[in-house]
Amino acid sequence: MGNTAVVTGGTRGIGAEIAITLQKSGYITAATYAGNTERAEKFSEETGIKAYKWDAGCPQSCTQGIAQIEQDLGPIDILVNNAGITRDGWFHKMDFDQWSQVMRTNLDSMFTMTRPVISGMRERGHGRIINISSINGQKGQIGQTNYSAAKAGVIGFTKALAQENARKGITVNCICPGYIDTDMVSAVPEKVLESIISQIPVGRLGKASEIASLVTYLCSPAAAFITGSVMTINGAQYMANG
Ligand SMILES: NC(=O)c1ccc[n+]([C@@H]2O[C@H](COP(=O)([O-])OP(=O)(O)OC[C@H]3O[C@@H](n4cnc5c(N)ncnc54)[C@H](OP(=O)(O)O)[C@@H]3O)[C@@H](O)[C@H]2O)c1
Repeated sequence: MGNTAVVTGGTRGIGAEIAITLQKSGYITAATYAGNTERAEKFSEETGIKAYKWDAGCPQSCTQGIAQIEQDLGPIDILVNNAGITRDGWFHKMDFDQWSQVMRTNLDSMFTMTRPVISGMRERGHGRIINISSINGQKGQIGQTNYSAAKAGVIGFTKALAQENARKGITVNCICPGYIDTDMVSAVPEKVLESIISQIPVGRLGKASEIASLVTYLCSPAAAFITGSVMTINGAQYMANG
């Protein structure tokens, strides 16, 4: 069984914690990022994890970037599709750029990142694909028609891909985090954040490490029968089975 993992958006927030945890668990890990080179360089210095810069929504960049990682680190066995952005606004005020940027980074990236690795995984008879969706892809959220639509799309993508590859030793699963303490959530106005926390029965934001632990388990041989699953980690804020 191979040993190389790639985490998109792996230099900050949830992705960084996933990359660090996978590396500590013995996987050779690479992280990608979009443009914050200062953070990426600091991350690589501190962790020893190589960071690669490209837009996860761009097909050509993904094909080239993945080829580079495979040349540097070996065939990719684990892909964590984590990169994501928000461009919030009520739909009646939303412009097409807000819509399409979110679709590109959160949903197109499922195709652009997964398509170049899937054939190799099928040939080798092993792979782990973990897609990071969101509670708001399950329940919908005011101000996030774009994000909710993209993240719901991630769930459908996961279920279809899992079935196509189930007999090839590849598992495909989806994690729907609730509100996790990262830069993305720090961008939410304080008053809004207070009201969000009041709706979380556990009474706090989630931790990136709590997402990373589940990703690491899903990558392990013990999780071979878990595929096509949609897992919520949200402190009981919203209970859904898909
Ligand atoms: N935080 C939450 O509460 C929460 C809840 C539910 C779901 N999620 C999902 O969890 C994932 C991670 O969220 P987070 O809060 O950790 O985000 P974050 O702190 O904002 O970090 C985002 C990471 O994604 C990278 N990225 C953004 N656009 C990219 C692109 N086009 N190509 C490649 N990389 C790109 C960023 O790179 P740069 O550093 O270069 O910008 C950064 O490394 C996202 O999919 C998000 O939707 C988060």
